[in-house]
Amino acid sequence: MAKTEEQVIYLDNAATSWPKPPEMMEAMIAYNDNIGASAGRGAYRRAVDSARIIFNLREALAELFNLPESERVIFTFNCTEGLNTVLWGLLAEGDHCLISSMEHNSVIRPMRALAKYRRVEFDIVPADGSGLVDAQGYKKAIKPNTKLLVLVHGSNVAGTVQPVAEVGRIAKEAGVHYLVDAAQTAGAIPIDVQAENIEMLAFPGHKGLMGPLGTGGLYIAPTVELRPLYQGGTGTHSYMEEQPEFMPDRFESGSHNALGLAGFLASVGFIARKGVEEIRNHRLALTEKMIEGVSRIPGVNYHGNRKTELQNGVISLTFDGADVGRMGERLDKEFGIMVRTGLHCAPLAHKTLGTMETGTVRFSVGVFNTPEQVDVVIDACRRIA
Ligand SMILES: Cc1ncc(COP(=O)(O)O)c(C=O)c1O
Repeated sequence: MAKTEEQVIYLDNAATSWPKPPEMMEAMIAYNDNIGASAGRGAYRRAVDSARIIFNLREALAELFNLPESERVIFTFNCTEGLNTVLWGLLAEGDHCLISSMEHNSVIRPMRALAKYRRVEFDIVPADGSGLVDAQGYKKAIKPNTKLLVLVHGSNVAGTVQPVAEVGRIAKEAGVHYLVDAAQTAGAIPIDVQAENIEMLAFPGHKGLMGPLGTGGLYIAPTVELRPLYQGGTGTHSYMEEQPEFMPDRFESGSHNALGLAGFLASVGFIARKGVEEIRNHRLALTEKMIEGVSRIPGVNYHGNRKTELQNGVISLTFDGADVGRMGERLDKEFGIMVRTGLHCAPLAHKTLGTMETGTVRFSVGVFNTPEQVDVVIDACRRIA
């Protein structure tokens, strides 16, 4: 039976958040109707208004992540582009890099390609069976040619929150660069780039920050020198045939996604007003309820950390003897519950958790999910188990 919109329960917020705050769409419509011009590409009022939106967004993100300088945030298409900007812009032949076994393919695949095309070496710091990385594992694996440590802040498979500040301290003490993948945590967990020694922070606009798809960003501290992935027009210093060196233009060639960034700005405003701490508590309360509920169901297995403070709203389950794809289909068709099934672009995380052969059914909560919805989901899991 087809479900009405009121009946659907969206639990794929780890892929992209939904629904978005109403002000996101309002801001995009207002941009489209009243501005429309390309940012930084003219002195007329509308082009200036467009540029102002982008400036205000940099400022809002600087406030949110406690960045020392807002112009060191660059906008990207998604989190993947930010991660690739760092990996390809920094690592050269003979360099060594450390990643964790909980990384997403948006780190693993560029690292494999860098090993193949540039002979970059890398090692994988293991996590325990709950997906938790031991920061000391990074310390022990640093070699004389180690240039970069990469760590995913929150796992997109098990929700595990990693010790980013501790690894940041280790990177600083060792004098190596440090990149944090905040795909699952930006807007969901308070992040203080300065206090946590995060030198580079890649984040999507469309997940926890509640912006539209096609938005993301990267913060690059002044301590790191990256080559941009590509060059082109910036609307500044147009007499120069070479790419400008200054931020953010060095990394922002071509027209901006101003429409998307207008929506992103409104969404960051929503997050700031609500408070990331409050959002974190809400997500944790739902997560705790869900884990407790499904743990009582025979034949349902939870794969992740049971310490709530180490969770971030991503709950991975398997059902004894059942195909995860089939379970996802039943949740959707019979109960209107939308989840992701399979390996979630993170094969090493599944090897770590012991779910490589089966994959998992992944439930990921967001700002707009409610405890009542979690009750419905627990009941649905009980019925299909
Ligand atoms: C941990 C992690 N890193 C990176 C990404 C890539 O994000 P995006 O889809 O914005 O490129 C994701 C997406 O799910 C993710 O979960």
